[in-house]
Amino acid sequence: MRAHIFGMCAAAGFFVSGGASAEGDIALGQYLSSECVTCHQLSGKSVGAIPPIVGWPSDQFIAVVDSYRKKERDNEVMQTISARLSDEEISALAAYFGSLKAPDE
Ligand code: HEC
Repeated sequence: MRAHIFGMCAAAGFFVSGGASAEGDIALGQYLSSECVTCHQLSGKSVGAIPPIVGWPSDQFIAVVDSYRKKERDNEVMQTISARLSDEEISALAAYFGSLKAPDE
């Protein structure tokens, strides 16, 4: 599946801009992200217990959110939030956050 290859490339950084629609809708992801960024920083910095979620490869992002949704990962806030998301919405969020550049630590 081509989408999978794009996901791996996203790990390298920013150059996804043209190609990411192959897996998730960036515009939809940006729209949905307004809820997420009340906690997660767009700058990619961590704040207290809230980890950064930008610049991840899509497949990894999707797997993690899905594991909250299935309650395999234990965090009540993220379980509640992810339970409301469809597969399509999670892919869209993965595409959007994956397209943002993580800062150099
Ligand atoms: C109320 C605050 C809050 C909101 C809103 C929120 N998160 Fe989170 N998120 C957290 C916290 C806290 C953690 C760390 C949980 C843990 O320790 O497992 C987390 C963890 C994550 C992780 C795993 C990060 C890692 O390094 O393991 C992802 C991915 C994630 N959130 C995505 C999202 C997305 C996508 C949204 C919007 C749909 C969102 N979050 C909304 C608080 C929030």
